[in-house]
Amino acid sequence: MVKIEAFIFDLDGVLVDTAKYHYLAWRKLANELGFDFSKEENEQLKGIERMQSLEILLKIGGMDFSKEKKQQLAAQKNKYYLIFISKMTTNEVLPGVRKFLDEAKSEGFKMALGSASKNAGAILRKTDLERYFDAIIDGNKIKNAKPDPEIFLKGAGAVNVQPSKCLVFEDAAAGIQAAINAGMRSAGIGDPTTLCAANVVVPGFVGLTVYDLLRLFY
Ligand code: BG6
Ligand code: MG
Repeated sequence: MVKIEAFIFDLDGVLVDTAKYHYLAWRKLANELGFDFSKEENEQLKGIERMQSLEILLKIGGMDFSKEKKQQLAAQKNKYYLIFISKMTTNEVLPGVRKFLDEAKSEGFKMALGSASKNAGAILRKTDLERYFDAIIDGNKIKNAKPDPEIFLKGAGAVNVQPSKCLVFEDAAAGIQAAINAGMRSAGIGDPTTLCAANVVVPGFVGLTVYDLLRLFY
């Protein structure tokens, strides 16, 4: 088995508790458009870039708009989202994450961020997580959204590690598929049913050591 040399982390729902804010912002927009949007339906949006997420949301609501109006709606959702994240503190780093990142860093693993979010930089700064990463690939740096492998391949390239030696951490089915498409191994963070395509699934980082996790791969 090829040794893992780099970790590539998704951000929303893996390192920070922002998945709930994406949901609340989309739900507010849906409600304003006159329909409800459930947590179950929100699963389809996880890991999906902003404009594609809006398309899915509008389909759920049975609505369609012009390109210009859609741009405006996506900007509106982002405005709501930015209000939520403006109040974020370091407390919203998910439990166990900082300890895991500290251990991975001190053990010499290369660390990259692979997030579809165009707000990733601001969130990393607010939560004091930026310093852990050798490379940050976010929604501003890619053309093709997950499940396309571009984001993770760019992360691997930036830390100079072959894809087969990278392990991706993801909470979204689209992200696990992107890891598979990139020829990387994956650890699902969250629900084993949604993340069944991942090599391993753990509920979160609490009590998880780097070597306990890697043992599941070798
Ligand atoms: C992903 C989230 O990380 O980023 C999605 O899982 C979100 O829910 C996507 O739509 C894009 O984020 P942003 O911040 O650029 O709208
Ligand atoms: Mg995510």
